Amino acid sequence: MSLELNKIAASVLTAGVVAMGAGFIADLLIHPRAPDEPAYAVAPREAPDDPDAAPVGPEPIIGMIADADIAAGENARRACAACHTFDEGGDHGVGPNLWGVMGDEIAGRDGFNYSDALLEKAEEEGTWDYQNMNAFLEDPGGWAPGTRMAYGGMANTEDRANLIAYMREQDDDPIDLPSEEEIEAVMAEWEGEEEPAEDEVAEENGLAARLQQADASAGESAVRACAACHTFDEGGANRVGPNLYDMVGAEIASVDGFGNYSSTLQEMDEVWTYENLDGFLENPREWAPGTTMSFAGVGDPQDRANIIAYMREMSEDPPALPTADGAEEADDAEEAEEDEEADAGGKNGNADGHAANSGANGATDAAAQPVSANDVLAGADLAAGQRVARSCVACHTFEEGGANRVGPNLHAMLGGPVAANSTFNYSEVLKEAGGEWTFERLDAFLEDPRGWAPGTRMTFPGVRQAEDRKNLIAFMQAQ
Ligand code: HEC
Ligand code: HEC
Ligand code: HEC
Repeated sequence: MSLELNKIAASVLTAGVVAMGAGFIADLLIHPRAPDEPAYAVAPREAPDDPDAAPVGPEPIIGMIADADIAAGENARRACAACHTFDEGGDHGVGPNLWGVMGDEIAGRDGFNYSDALLEKAEEEGTWDYQNMNAFLEDPGGWAPGTRMAYGGMANTEDRANLIAYMREQDDDPIDLPSEEEIEAVMAEWEGEEEPAEDEVAEENGLAARLQQADASAGESAVRACAACHTFDEGGANRVGPNLYDMVGAEIASVDGFGNYSSTLQEMDEVWTYENLDGFLENPREWAPGTTMSFAGVGDPQDRANIIAYMREMSEDPPALPTADGAEEADDAEEAEEDEEADAGGKNGNADGHAANSGANGATDAAAQPVSANDVLAGADLAAGQRVARSCVACHTFEEGGANRVGPNLHAMLGGPVAANSTFNYSEVLKEAGGEWTFERLDAFLEDPRGWAPGTRMTFPGVRQAEDRKNLIAFMQAQ
C-alpha cells in the first residue's frame, strides 16, 4: 500500500507543480485574507527578505521575448530615461548609453566609468545575455551588490520581458531570439529551484489557502489509501471504519449503524470542521488519542486538503470553505471582493476621455459607500508591497519629507487630497480630479494610470495584480 501511496503522492505533486505556474500562484494570492497568517501572502519566489528562503532568481523572461510587446517595452524604458539613452550614438548620462547592449560585454561601453561591482560581474558573467539582464533589471543591487545604478528594480516579469525585447532591437545586429532548447533549459532549472519553495507554500499556508488550491480529483485518487476501511459514496457500507458520505460538517462519530467508535471520538462534542478533519487526518492518534483508526495519517498538507476537498464533494450541504476571517464570512467576503472589482471596472469604463469626471465620480462613489481602507488592507504583506514599490522609486520617494523626482513624494497619500503637493507641478487631469485618494481611487489609478486619468504625466504602465496593489498601498501607508 505504501508503494501505491507513494505513487499517488508523486503524481499529486507533479500535478501541483505543473499547475502552479506563476499566474496560478498569483491568482491564489488574491483570495486569502489572513491577518493572523501572513504566510499566505508571501510569494515564495520573491522572498529575498526571508532569511530561510533559498536564493532564487527572478522569474525568467526568456520564454516571453519572442512574443513580447515591444511598444510597451519602449514605454517602460522611461523608468530608465532619467539616466540612460537608448539610441545609437546617444550620450552617456548618469548611466551609460545602452544602444546595442544586449549580447554585448558587461561594463564594456567606451568612455563610461563603471563601478568595481559591475566590472567584477563582467569577469564572472561575461555578456548581457537574457538571463543576466533579467536578473540585473529585477534587482540591480541584488545581482551586482555595490552597483552605482541607483534604481530599485523592475518587479513585474512582463514589464522586464517587454523592456528587454525592446532593448534587443536597439542594436545594429540584434542578438538571436532565445532558442527552444535555451528556454527549456532555463525553465527546467528555474522550476527545479522552485520545487522546494512550493513545498514550503503548502507547508506554511493555512488550511484556507490549501483548500482554495485543492484538487478534489487528486483527492479521489488519494482516498484509495482509506478504501480498505471506508466507503465514501452515498449509502456506502460501513467497513472497519464508518461510511464517510456527508462527513464534512457532520457531528463527529454520528454514523448510524457503525458500532465500532472509540470512546475518544464518541466523547467529542464537535463537528467535522475543515480544521478538525485536517488535524485528524494529519495524525489520527495524536489528534484523537485512543482512536481505533489505525492509520498513520497523511503527512503532506496539500494531499490532506485534496482529500478534504473530495470529501466535501461527497457531502450534501458542506459548510462554506473557510477564509482566514472564518467560515461564516466566506460568502460576504467574496461578495465584497466582487463589488470591489465591479467598482473598479466601472471607473475604468468611464475613463474614456472623461478624465476629470472619472475622478469626480470616484470621489462620489467613495462618499456613498465608504470602504474602510483598514479592512481592505488587513493582512496585506508589507514586504511584498515594498518589492512592488521598487518599480516606483525611479520617479517617487515614499518617506515623509522625501524629495519630488519625476513624480511627487508619496508620503501619506491614502485619505489625503489628490494632487496636493504644492511643490509639484501636476498635469491638468490630476489637478482637476478633486477629492481624496480613497483606497478605490488609488487602486484604480495604480492599476491603469492612463486609463483612470487620461493625460496623466505618470508614464507607468500600472500594477496589474490586485494583490500587488493592495500590498503596495499598505506599504505606502506604512511609510
Ligand atoms: C538613477 C539612474 C539610473 C536609472 C533610473 C537606471 N539606471 Fe541603468 N545604470 C545606471 C548607472 C549609474 C549604471 C552603471 C552601473 C555601475 O557601474 O555599477 C547603469 C548601468 C546599466 C546597465 C549596464 C550597462 C553596461 O554597459 O554594462 C544596464 C544594462 C542598465 N543600466 C539598464 C537600465 C535599465 C533598462 C533601466 C530602466 C529599467 C535603468 N538602467 C535605470 C543608472 C541608472
Ligand atoms: C485501517 C483502517 C482505516 C483506514 C486505512 C482509514 N480509516 Fe478512517 N476510520 C477507521 C476507524 C476504525 C474509524 C473509527 C475511529 C474511532 O472511532 O476512533 C475511522 C474514522 C474516521 C473518520 C471519522 C468518522 C466519523 O464518523 O466521525 C474519518 C473522517 C475518517 N476515518 C477518515 C479517513 C480517511 C480520509 C482515510 C484515508 C486518508 C482513513 N480514514 C483511513 C479506520 C480507517
Ligand atoms: C516614470 C516615472 C513614474 C513611475 C515609475 C511611477 N510614477 Fe507615480 N507619478 C509620476 C508622475 C509624473 C506623477 C504626476 C502625474 C500627473 O501630474 O499627472 C505621478 C503621480 C503619482 C501619484 C499621485 C500623487 C498625488 O500627489 O496625487 C501617485 C499616488 C503615484 N504616482 C503613485 C505611484 C506608484 C505607487 C508607483 C509605482 C507602482 C508609481 N507612481 C510609479 C511618475 C511616475
